Amino acid sequence: MKVLGIESSCDETGVALVEAAPAGVPRVLAQALHSQADLHEAFGGVVPELASRDHIRRVLPLTRQVLAEAGATPAEIDLVAYTRGPGLAGALLVGAGVAVALGAALQRPTAGIHHLEGHLLSPFLADEAPRFPFVALLVSGGHTQLMRVDGVGRYALLGETVDDAAGEAFDKSAKLLGLGYPGGPALARLAAFGDPDAHELPRPLRHSGDLDFSFAGLKTAVLTRVNRLGPNVCEQSRADLAASTQQAIVDVLVAKSMQALQQTGLDRLVVAGGVGANARLRETLQKRVGQVGAFVHYPPPALCTDNGAMIALAAALRWQHGLLPADEPGAFDVRPRWPLAQVGSH
Ligand code: KG4
Ligand code: ZN
Repeated sequence: MKVLGIESSCDETGVALVEAAPAGVPRVLAQALHSQADLHEAFGGVVPELASRDHIRRVLPLTRQVLAEAGATPAEIDLVAYTRGPGLAGALLVGAGVAVALGAALQRPTAGIHHLEGHLLSPFLADEAPRFPFVALLVSGGHTQLMRVDGVGRYALLGETVDDAAGEAFDKSAKLLGLGYPGGPALARLAAFGDPDAHELPRPLRHSGDLDFSFAGLKTAVLTRVNRLGPNVCEQSRADLAASTQQAIVDVLVAKSMQALQQTGLDRLVVAGGVGANARLRETLQKRVGQVGAFVHYPPPALCTDNGAMIALAAALRWQHGLLPADEPGAFDVRPRWPLAQVGSH
């Protein structure tokens, strides 16, 4: 069974071809990605209309590239999966429209996949795949959630952000520090030269007792520090503030993840989404889970941010479990807002 996966929910066009047997972990045959980071950089964030237009330009050439690299013909595709949501409506419509058109032309079924389900199952493509059940920390530009995952399609929300997402906190703080878009990787690079204890920044909701997050206050605290430092701030002071900001975000993510493991009694943590690429988060989590005899799993580095492979993988795993949400032939919808806990095992 060969599954083509198309991801177009935000600012990356991702296409991949995945091969799945009735059992066992599916395998990526080929994948291709186009990041729109350069396109949006001048605007300091994603411009939805530009994102949609660029997805239109990229999706078919990327699909051709993937098929060529896999040595496969379009006729060999058994299922076309695409990101149904959440994400930017116009951007989602590009992937969904192309997927459904391909499905109609090839007379193959299509399936709309939840973007976060793709992220949280992506560690199954790593060398050391996790086992169910586990706690998933989903940390991306738009989402910050802790989920309990008992199996494919069995997701329960444990806690989530009440305002900004962790990636947003990185991106907004980076912007205040005069760094480019996307801010997370840029802030992390600058932070490597700074002192994480230089500034005492808030760790909102860290001791709230529940598993919710809040990052909006942190951004305000960073703004206050930036104003205090003034326009002629030296490079070391910027690095110190970047390191302190990163540490505040990491501290909260780690504390809540450890609390989630404790509350559920589970000993496996899966980290997914763009912020999962953060080296400081990884090394801190590694240390803390090790201390309690637990394990942490990540997707392969190239699959931490948005990609088509995770969408094809999620569809393939659902197919293996008899849970494929196949569309009515020719019909599709997109869901810009779509809570993961609603996906279920329909
Ligand atoms: O999952 P993703 O690619 O897209 C969304 O679905 O949002 O995540 C993108 C987010 C951005 O906010 C970006 O700044 C952040 O992930 N990010 C990072 C790092 N790499 C990407 N944040 C911190 N450190 C990184 N190394
Ligand atoms: Zn994502």
